[in-house]
Amino acid sequence: MSEQNQNSTYNQRKTFPGLGVRQQGAKRLDFVLAGNSFEPFNETDIADPRDRAIANRLISVALRRHGHISFVIEQLMQRGVPKRSGLFEAILRIGLAQLLFLPDMGAHSAIHLAVEAAKRDQRASRFDRVLNGVLRQAQREAARWRGLDNALLFPQWLVKNWTAQYGEEAVKQFGKALIAGAPLDICLKDEKGPLRDELGGKKLIFDSIRIEKREMSVVQMPGFESGQWWVQDVAATLAARLFDLKKGATVLDMCAAPGGKTAQLIKAGYGVIALDNSPGRIKRLEQNLLRLNYEADIIEGDAKNFRPAQKFDGVLIDAPCSATGTFRRHPEVLMHRVPRDIKGRVGLQRQIITNGVDCLKKGGQLILCVCSLLQEEGEAQANWVLHNFPQLRALPVTLGELGGLSGAIDRNGWVRTHPGLNMGPDLSGMDGFFVARWILD
Ligand SMILES: C[S@@+](CC[C@H](N)C(=O)[O-])C[C@H]1O[C@@H](n2cnc3c(N)ncnc32)[C@H](O)[C@@H]1O
Repeated sequence: MSEQNQNSTYNQRKTFPGLGVRQQGAKRLDFVLAGNSFEPFNETDIADPRDRAIANRLISVALRRHGHISFVIEQLMQRGVPKRSGLFEAILRIGLAQLLFLPDMGAHSAIHLAVEAAKRDQRASRFDRVLNGVLRQAQREAARWRGLDNALLFPQWLVKNWTAQYGEEAVKQFGKALIAGAPLDICLKDEKGPLRDELGGKKLIFDSIRIEKREMSVVQMPGFESGQWWVQDVAATLAARLFDLKKGATVLDMCAAPGGKTAQLIKAGYGVIALDNSPGRIKRLEQNLLRLNYEADIIEGDAKNFRPAQKFDGVLIDAPCSATGTFRRHPEVLMHRVPRDIKGRVGLQRQIITNGVDCLKKGGQLILCVCSLLQEEGEAQANWVLHNFPQLRALPVTLGELGGLSGAIDRNGWVRTHPGLNMGPDLSGMDGFFVARWILD
């Protein structure tokens, strides 16, 4: 039978409840495995809210458990995933995610729907029996695979790097945080208004609240459409709060999109110039500020060589980085980042910092931050600044400026947060961030 005829035969096969969700899920996971970010399905992709929630949950668990699932595949498929097998790997990973880590979804449907999804994919269909065999073996040995060490969730180079910097106990916490996922942190425009109670959030620090569990999508929540708040991890809010400037001071936000920190700077009463080099992300920044009814001068340009007509009272550099600190929200960063990328990013960050220093007025403040858990992009960069810009004087951060967030300031007065740093007994952790601050003498 020709490949085309074979394919149309597969497409005409009878369908089963939940099969379409697995097929769509496998396509999206395959896209992420190829090096792209995971965009959860929205109302346009999958109209039915239950199907949409199942598809997003399957992919999210497959990504959070990527390290464990890779280990299971290595053990059960000694020759590896077959080459040119289409959606086979994505279907297998989703099947294993359900079978091993989502017991409430049922083991039988995990195997049955995975095999049926494989039969309907032109290239994967040749391997439906292999898939069935691997999933059945995983089912028999489920207790073993469910008990894998959390250190396997992360690539070994990150475990080594993080253990040296944060210690073994913190890395154990990182594993738990990856599996648990992140809560929804919100920054309120008016922290004294009634919205906090309406949203059911717990107060964190300053104008940040946390919603640990939510039943509706962000856009349906009270106050979103009318621009009363924006989404921002509490760790991400720390940097922009650290400018100690008068109202009306000018601040250049050099890597601004999608604009969480721009919004904070505007709320603080500064005149903000928001620069970014990505047209797509600038569009999101514009939409976000429009919704919030906030105004900034938005410029598309390269922070490495941006030449403004004026100098600024403040320069914020939220530098492009590995984003390893956001692994609870974007678990795919763990599989996409490799050590050789880091050097290039460090070089780009230094070029942006050099230009940022040039944009400062005398007496102006420079704040550097990264959502990275790698000291190469954080502490080492701050040391590089100290050695290369004698005209800058370090301004150590105090506990009061962080709303009493203890454990987040190191001995240099730099801010270092990570997902193992809890905000209270019944509150989960926060993203990994690094922040340092200087003044131009
Ligand atoms: C960490 S994100 C910024 C997040 C943002 N500050 C916020 O709080 O929402 C880094 C940003 O840097 C931008 N970027 C990367 N390289 C750049 C460059 N050479 N010049 C300007 N922006 C750049 C990216 O497009 C991205 O939007």
